[in-house]
Amino acid sequence: MEKERRKQNILVGKLMKGFVDQTVEFYNGMKERKICRPTDKKVWDRLCRQTVPVKGRPLEEVYQEMLDDVYMSISLAQHPRSFSCVPSTASLVSWMGDIMTNAFNPHASCKRNALAADLIEKKMIHWMCDLAGYPQGCGGLFVSGGSMANLTALTAARDSRLKEEERGKAVVYLSDQTHISLAKGLHIIGFFQDQIRMIPTDRDFRMDISLLKEAVKEDAGKGKIPFAVIATAGTTNTGSVDPLPEIAALCKEYHMWMHVDGAFGASALLSEKQRKYLAGIELSDSLSWDAHKWMMQTYGCSVVLVRDQNNLTRSFAAHPEYLKDAKGSKDSVEFWDLGPELTRPARALKLWITLQTFGSQEMGTMIDHGCEMAEFTEKVIGSDPDWEIVSPARLGIVNFRYAPAGVSSESELARINQIMARQMTESGYAQVFTTEIHGKRVLRMCTIHPETTKEDILLTISRLKSLKPSDILKDNSCHKRTA
Ligand SMILES: Cc1ncc(COP(=O)(O)O)c(C=O)c1O
Repeated sequence: MEKERRKQNILVGKLMKGFVDQTVEFYNGMKERKICRPTDKKVWDRLCRQTVPVKGRPLEEVYQEMLDDVYMSISLAQHPRSFSCVPSTASLVSWMGDIMTNAFNPHASCKRNALAADLIEKKMIHWMCDLAGYPQGCGGLFVSGGSMANLTALTAARDSRLKEEERGKAVVYLSDQTHISLAKGLHIIGFFQDQIRMIPTDRDFRMDISLLKEAVKEDAGKGKIPFAVIATAGTTNTGSVDPLPEIAALCKEYHMWMHVDGAFGASALLSEKQRKYLAGIELSDSLSWDAHKWMMQTYGCSVVLVRDQNNLTRSFAAHPEYLKDAKGSKDSVEFWDLGPELTRPARALKLWITLQTFGSQEMGTMIDHGCEMAEFTEKVIGSDPDWEIVSPARLGIVNFRYAPAGVSSESELARINQIMARQMTESGYAQVFTTEIHGKRVLRMCTIHPETTKEDILLTISRLKSLKPSDILKDNSCHKRTA
C-alpha cells in the first residue's frame, strides 16, 4: 500500500508540474480568451452519465478529463473584461499561497496545531483592524466569504445586545441596497421577516438617515427593541456608502449594534484617495471585509472584524472534552472560539504572501485604478445623449442604460438593456450583467480588475453600442405582438 501510494505521489507531482506551466500560460494569455465558455453539449451529456466508479481509474485519465470537461468551461471572473457581479482580482501569487497552504493542509483551528500560521493569521487580523481604526481589544476571524462574515457578526450582535427572552421583540434595520446575505443571516439566526425593517435609500443610494431615525423612534415607542443597524460600505449595486457617522450616533443613542458590511468596499481603506468615503467605519461594532473581492485573493478569503473580541467568544467559545489537549492553555482563545467552524484552513496565509510580495501601497494603487476605470466609463457613456448614467462611478462601480429618445416605457427600456447585456456576454468579449436600481433596469459595470485598460472600456462600450439597437427594438415589438 505504502509503495503504491509513493508511486501515485510521484505521478501527481509529474502531472502538477505540467499543470503549473499550463496555468501560467493560461493567465498570461487571459485577455485573448473568451470570458464566457459554455459547456459543450456532448461533454455535458457525458458528465451527466458519469457516476462514482467501484474501482478507481488511471489518474492521468481523470486529470485530463477534469481539465477538458470541467475547468475549461468555467466563466472567467478573473478576466480583465469581466465587469459583472464583483469580478475577481485574484493574483497568481494568491494561488501560489493556496497551493502551499493546501499542500501542508494545516488544521488551523488552534495554536497547538499550527503556531506560526496562527501568528500570521492574527497579524493579518490586527493589521486590518488597525486600517479600520478599531481600538485595543479588537479581534476577528478569517472565514470563507462575506456571507459567512455577515452571519458571524450578526450572531455576535444578537448575543451582545439581547437577552434570550428579548429576541421576540427585537428589530434590526437595513436598507433596500443591503446585500441579501444579511437577510439570509438574520433568518438563519432566528429572526422573522417582521423583525427586519428595510429603510429606503436616498437619491445617492445611501440609507436615508431621517427615515431610519423615524423607524427606530417608532419601534422604540411601541415597546420593541431596536438592537442593530446594518450599514454598507460599498453596496453591491452602486458602490454607495451609507452615512456611517450618523448611523453610529443613532446606534449609540439607542444602544444598538452597528455592523458594517464592507465585503466589497472595505478594501478602499487601502487607498489614500478613497479612504475618506469610509469615514465613520471606525465607530462600528463589527465589519465584514472580503479579501477575495478587491485584495487580489482567490476565493475563500474574507474576514469578520469586531471592535471587542469578547463579543465573538460570548457567542462561539467551545470547550468539549476532545479539544482539551489541543487548547494552548486554560485561558487561551483559539480560532474555534471565534466563529462557527472547527476545522478550517489557514485562509490568511495567501493574503500574507500576497501583501509581502506586492506591499500595501501597490494594493492601494490597484484600488485607485479600479475607481478611475469606472470614472472613465461614466465620462464616455455620459457624453452620448442616447445613454443615461443612473448611478455615477463610486468605488469602481457605474450603472447606466441605453435610453434613446422615443422609448419611454420602463419595461421596453428594461428589455432592450437586458438583450444588450445578454448579447455582450454571449459574444465572450466582455461580461456585463444588468441590475435594477430604484425601479430602473440598468447595465452595471464593476471595473476593478487591475489589468483593465481604457482601451478595454472603450471597446466594450463601442461593442455595446454596435449591438444594433434598432434590431433590438424590432425584436422587442415582435415580442410584444406575440405576447
Ligand atoms: C456588499 C456585499 N456583501 C456581501 C457579499 C457576499 O459575499 P460572498 O459572496 O463572499 O459571500 C457580497 C458579494 O458580492 C457583497 O457585494
